[in-house]
Amino acid sequence: MDANTAVAFAKENGERFVEELKELLRIPSISTDPERRADVRRAAQFCADELTRIGMERVRLIETSTEETMVGVPDGPARIEPGRIGHPLVYAEWLKAPGKPTVLCYGHYDVQPPDPLDEWHSPPFEPTERNGNLYARGAVDDKGQMWMHVKALESLMAAGNGTLPVNVRVILEGEEEVGGEGIAAFVREHGEQLKADVALVSDTEMFAPELPTLCVGLRGMIYTEIEVRGAKTDLHSGMYGGAAPNPFVALAQIIAQLKDAEGRILIPRFYDKVMRPTQAELHAWSSLPFKEEEYREHEVGSVTLTGEAGFSVLERTWARPTLDVHGMPGGFTGAGAKTVIPARATAKVSMRLVPDMTPQESFALYKSYVESIVPKGCTLEVRLIHSGDPIVVSTDNEFVRAATEAMHTVFGKETVFVRGGGSIPIVGDFVRELGIPTVMMGFGLPDDNLHAPNEKFNLGNFHRGIESIVRWLALVGA
Ligand code: BES
Ligand code: MN
Ligand code: MN
Repeated sequence: MDANTAVAFAKENGERFVEELKELLRIPSISTDPERRADVRRAAQFCADELTRIGMERVRLIETSTEETMVGVPDGPARIEPGRIGHPLVYAEWLKAPGKPTVLCYGHYDVQPPDPLDEWHSPPFEPTERNGNLYARGAVDDKGQMWMHVKALESLMAAGNGTLPVNVRVILEGEEEVGGEGIAAFVREHGEQLKADVALVSDTEMFAPELPTLCVGLRGMIYTEIEVRGAKTDLHSGMYGGAAPNPFVALAQIIAQLKDAEGRILIPRFYDKVMRPTQAELHAWSSLPFKEEEYREHEVGSVTLTGEAGFSVLERTWARPTLDVHGMPGGFTGAGAKTVIPARATAKVSMRLVPDMTPQESFALYKSYVESIVPKGCTLEVRLIHSGDPIVVSTDNEFVRAATEAMHTVFGKETVFVRGGGSIPIVGDFVRELGIPTVMMGFGLPDDNLHAPNEKFNLGNFHRGIESIVRWLALVGA
């Protein structure tokens, strides 16, 4: 099989590939939204149908939970118990290359919620091309990148008359954006069904346009909720203000004690297991093309950057733990004024973890610290919503070398090795449970607006990504 033939096929069919991706992007597969369950499944089926059409075998949806339990939240709509969300996995295989390595292609077809809607220049689920970019929720994270895998496989199949240069298994999940509990359970219980020599993940970014990049580390995370309770019911703030505890003030006081002004997390022993990157890694990072001032102005857009003193931006975002507050549901948030002392307040708080921290231990330290600083008159509950391990993958293997070679052919440049500040919980399980190396070859760009309004995928990168994956698979099978 000649990789050039497959690349030529990909080029001839590139426009069709984009049109198909648009169809997938029109499906609002928002995994966290119970109202979108049917759409999430529709996206899974769309992927499965395409995998079948291109010639993959034993294509099926794998249910991740049969006992989907709807639990009632007091005063709220029913929700699905966390950890039992139950969006299906999509599996496909083609295992007819005896003696060749087996590649496990991973991606996720679920997306983040699109709000705030009024900041989108075109609607999030109406994919629109502008200036060589495709704008839509999920364009780059991860439908577009997942589609590169499918289209690389299609191109190789076409060039090889229905054969591939390697054995391939495909596993797609629909819960990545909500913690990936379903796929984690499947890997734990049925790991042998995903037996492979290497995993390929395209769900990360390039460090800069035109710069081929392999991601070799991800932060882990714990996503939590703190619920504070004060009075037994909401109270008139004039009649009871001065006597009744206010859970929002209590929560603000708690949050203010989680981090100091420098960004250092104040949870005792939280940093005990943090490993510094190696000198070699730090040295490599310092020669990456990074201009802090440009990053501040164009990517972040704030007056100054924050974070721990004594660490570079790259180290702070890739190799240091962090703590953030995402929202504080509860109380009065409508238009105008309402004089109420709410009975309850909630905060959604997450922490990013780095090697060798563990989610279990980090959560235990956090929980006992929060419980030790509850303000007077309030009680609280600290809940873990989901978690994932931090990871650093090895770069010393033939699969990584093949990736740098493939991308050199496509981009004409040496690959840079970076870490990602984000999390992809299942990657740790590929390494630990399946014992296989993972190649994180992603083609997003720093300004792709992941999880934000106006998410996009650079179409040049979509096509270069397909070509890189074609060439990589061909090299792995050579
Ligand atoms: N693709 C991202 C993770 C990512 C982004 C890694 C950029 C490296 C660079 C992924 O879809 C994601 O957003 N993950 C969530 C995971 C969480 C909900 C468990 C994240 O990082 O917030
Ligand atoms: Mn992703
Ligand atoms: Mn994401």
